[in-house]
Amino acid sequence: MKVPSLKTHSTLAAPGTATPDGWTPKSWKSRPIVQAPAYADTAALEAAADKLGVLPPLVTSWEIERLRSELADASLGRRFVLQAGDCAETFNECTPGYVTNKLKILLQMSLLLTDGIKRPIVRVGRIAGQYAKPRSSPMETINGKTLLSYYGDLINGPHFNEAERAPDPQRLLLSYYHSAMTLNFVRSLIDGGFADLHHPEYWDLNFLDKAGLTPDLRAAYLQRVNSIGNAIEVMEIIAGQPIDKVSSVDFYTSHEGLSLPYESALTRKVPRRAGYYNLGCHLPWIGERTRQLDGAHIEFFRGIRNPVGVKIGPKTTPEELLATANAIDPEREPGRLVLICRFGQGKPKTVLPPLVDAMRKANRQPVWICDPMHGNTVSTSTGKKTRHVDAIQSELIDTIEIHESLQSILGGIHLELTAENVTECLGGASGLKETDLDIAYQSLCDPRLNYEQAMETAFLVARKMEA
Ligand code: PEP
Ligand code: CO
Repeated sequence: MKVPSLKTHSTLAAPGTATPDGWTPKSWKSRPIVQAPAYADTAALEAAADKLGVLPPLVTSWEIERLRSELADASLGRRFVLQAGDCAETFNECTPGYVTNKLKILLQMSLLLTDGIKRPIVRVGRIAGQYAKPRSSPMETINGKTLLSYYGDLINGPHFNEAERAPDPQRLLLSYYHSAMTLNFVRSLIDGGFADLHHPEYWDLNFLDKAGLTPDLRAAYLQRVNSIGNAIEVMEIIAGQPIDKVSSVDFYTSHEGLSLPYESALTRKVPRRAGYYNLGCHLPWIGERTRQLDGAHIEFFRGIRNPVGVKIGPKTTPEELLATANAIDPEREPGRLVLICRFGQGKPKTVLPPLVDAMRKANRQPVWICDPMHGNTVSTSTGKKTRHVDAIQSELIDTIEIHESLQSILGGIHLELTAENVTECLGGASGLKETDLDIAYQSLCDPRLNYEQAMETAFLVARKMEA
C-alpha cells in the first residue's frame, strides 16, 4: 500500500498465464474438506457467499503482484519478511486503539530488523481478516455440556452457549466488514504519514514506557531510531532533496485461508490480467491441518495468483513437500511459494536440512520463513496454553544458523504477538512466570508474545543476522 521503503531492484514475478486445468473458484467443493464445521442452513450460507461475491475487493492485484516481486527478492536474500499479528483477530478488537498499536509494533520491530539485517523489510500483518481458526478438537466440553469449539469470529462466537457456537453464515459478511474497516484505517494511517520514517515519534515512543519496556531495550530502540534518522538525513543531504521513496513504508495483509466459502467469494478475475486473484488479502496461507494433497484447501489455493503461504510441521517429509510445491507452484514462479516452518524447539536441526536439500535439488527457491510459535505450544498444570520465550528464541536461532550453514536463505519470520501488555507467553527479559499468566491472559486461541517479548525477539533476530 505505498511505495516500499529502501527499495532495491525487484525481480518481477512472471505474469500469470493461465488458470490451471480443471480449476474454478469453486472446484474445491468436489474435494474432501477438513476443519469446516457444517452450517445448518446451507441456503443462507450460499446467500451470504453470493452477497460477498459482489462486494468490492479489499486489496488490488497490483498490490498482490508487488508483494510477489518483493517475496521473490526475499527468497534471494534481498529483503526480509516480518509476518506477525494476532493468533485470532476478533470483531471486538476492531478499534482504533488496537489497530494503531498493532501497526506501531510492526513498524517498530521492522525498524530494528532493518537496522540489523540491512535488508528492506516486507511487513505482512496477520491482520484485517485473521478471523478463522482451525482447532485440534472439534468439540469442547464444559461441566458435562458439549458444544462445537470456537472456530474464530468468521465461523461462530467464543461464548459457551448453543446460539453462539452454531456456525452463522452472516459472520462471513461481518468478517468482510471488519476487515474492510481495519484495512481502511491502516491505509489512512499509512497514507497520512503515520509510518513516515522521518517521524518515528508518531509511533509514540511513550508507548515504550507504558508497555513497561526495560530501560536497556528502550535505550537500544531509541539508539536504532536515531541512527536510522541520521542515515535518512545523510542520504537527503547527498541527494539534495527529501527522499520520499525511502521514507514511506509498505504494509501487506495476510490470514489463514481456512473458510473456503469466504475465500472463494473474494476470488475474482481482474481486467487486463490473466487468472484469478484472491482479493481478500495479499498473502493467504494454508494451515498445517488443512494441507492434505487431495484436499479442498490445496485445490483452492493452486488456482489463485496470490503468493501462497504453506505452514509445514516437523513431520513434513521431502516427498510430501515436493508434491505440495508441485501442486501449488508447478511453474516455479518467483515469489509464489512461501514455506512457513513451524517445527518446535530442537527440531529444525533434523527436519530443515533434508527439506532445503529437496527443494534445492528440485531447482526451487521458496521463501523460507520461520514460525517459532506453533511448534512450541505447551499446557500448564492448570491447562492454560502457553509458550516459553526461550523455546521460541531457540528455534529462531537454530533456524538462522542452519540456513547459514546450508548456504540457504532465511527469508523471514512469522510471529504471534500483540502490542498489548498481555501475560500469555512465559519468560522473556521480565521473567514472566506461570503464576503471572492469569494477570492478563486475553487470547481466545494461541498465546501471543507481549510488547516487550516481541521487541526483544526482534532485537535477537536483528543481532543474530547482523550484516
Ligand atoms: C496459526 O498460524 O495460527 C495456526 C493455526 O498455525 P498452524 O497451521 O501452523 O498450526
Ligand atoms: Co496460532
